[in-house]
Amino acid sequence: MTDFPPKPASRADRVSLWHYMRLFREDILSAQPARLYRAWMAEFRTPFFRSYLINQPALVDEVLKARPLAFPKSDRVGEGLRPLLGRSVFLTNGPEWQRQRRIIDPAFEGGRLRDTFPAIRAAGAASVARIGAGGCAVEIEQEMSHAAADVIFRTLFSMPIEASIAARVFHEFRAYQRTQPILNAAAFLPLPRWFPRGHRAETRRAAAAIRALITELTVTRMAEIEAGTAPDDLATKIMTTADPESGVCFTTAEMVDQVAIFFLAGHETSASALGWALYLLARFPEWQERVAAEAACLPEMPEFSALSRLKLTRDVFREALRLYPPVPMMVRETTGPERFRDRDIPKGSQIVISPWHLHRHARLWDNPDGFDPGRWNTETGKQCMREAFIPFSTGARVCTGAGFAMVEGTLLLAMLVRAFRFERIIGDDPVPVAYLTVRARNGIRLKVSPRSRGRAAAFPPACDCRRR
Ligand code: HEM
Repeated sequence: MTDFPPKPASRADRVSLWHYMRLFREDILSAQPARLYRAWMAEFRTPFFRSYLINQPALVDEVLKARPLAFPKSDRVGEGLRPLLGRSVFLTNGPEWQRQRRIIDPAFEGGRLRDTFPAIRAAGAASVARIGAGGCAVEIEQEMSHAAADVIFRTLFSMPIEASIAARVFHEFRAYQRTQPILNAAAFLPLPRWFPRGHRAETRRAAAAIRALITELTVTRMAEIEAGTAPDDLATKIMTTADPESGVCFTTAEMVDQVAIFFLAGHETSASALGWALYLLARFPEWQERVAAEAACLPEMPEFSALSRLKLTRDVFREALRLYPPVPMMVRETTGPERFRDRDIPKGSQIVISPWHLHRHARLWDNPDGFDPGRWNTETGKQCMREAFIPFSTGARVCTGAGFAMVEGTLLLAMLVRAFRFERIIGDDPVPVAYLTVRARNGIRLKVSPRSRGRAAAFPPACDCRRR
């Protein structure tokens, strides 16, 4: 019998608006009907606006790739995040957003990724050391949040998470998350635009505290840049890159908004993906042994070039992104009337693109709910990777950190599985829910034991490292 990893229950096809809202508040995913795993498009009517979930690759392409300017980010999406993110690249549209991307994108280009690699590796080694000291059952989600936040601080500001100010940002961020559970709630809930959003006092306090700390970091860095003593990291790169069109750099205030999104988008998402990837490897130990065999070929201190030898590990990380896409849904808004699948879509409608449903679409994927990293080498898998796999979105607004996240995810997974064996705790399987990202309702606990480096893995290594 096929062993399917956990998936949230779907609701019945027809429910009252009140019931839908109640389900939605608990979790966006289980508030959706099962038919979305087969449908190409679905319409949701609320008293104040209509939303359309599109699930057909050609339609997703139309919105994200072909005419992105006709489908800007919906303002509703930013409602909950604005106190923290201000006017960051994640929330803006039009010329303001285009200018921000022209400044930010060069920092994430291929060559720069190679430069950030040692900092990512150092964060991986620190995570291995922490778990090593941690004992038997480990709260993996927490540890992966710690590791991913460490990656961001080391690559952005050349400081480990243990540095006092970084630790304070991380601490405040946890407080923020507890008060701001659902990313896109305002985009779906049937509230009119004028309805006061009423951010909770604790959300506002935590957001202000995080921004004060980030301001301190950014002001200090600006002074170091002016004194010629700044380290060559992502923050320096972004703060010294001028917009090629206007020749103007970010002001310190603008940089604070961008750092806030790098921290939020860069650590929450990677932590979610790594947590699920480790759970999947614990649940499917034969795949874990293959990853361990591949990782055993790495030198103690792998260089950037070693990544090309981690093909299977990358396929496992990709499969985790397919089954548990950290950003489960994205929302855009129509700026004029549209016609999708012979249906008129009025101006001002919400267009919902759901990586969660697209990645498990029964009419596109073989074995959509199964864990099969081997699929990426099949014809269907390759076609789906091109047409129906969008964990980082696609088109002009594709995630700026996509390449960075693939390096981080693959390397950390390999380093962790090289050091430890992860085992599922029977009766303690995680239940996926969509909070800020797709997380486990009560965390992910795994039994962790050190691997002895000398012992041969059950699978022979794909490379010839044992013979050298
Ligand atoms: C596994 C890890 C990650 C996943 C799955 C992911 C996913 C995404 C997705 C789906 C979007 C588009 C959201 C939308 O259009 O509504 C996005 C945007 C973004 N991501 Fe990531 N992300 C990851 C890691 C990172 C990292 C490491 C960084 C930076 C260090 C980053 C920075 C950003 C930024 C700045 C945007 C906004 C881009 C724009 O709107 O133009 N992300 N990410």
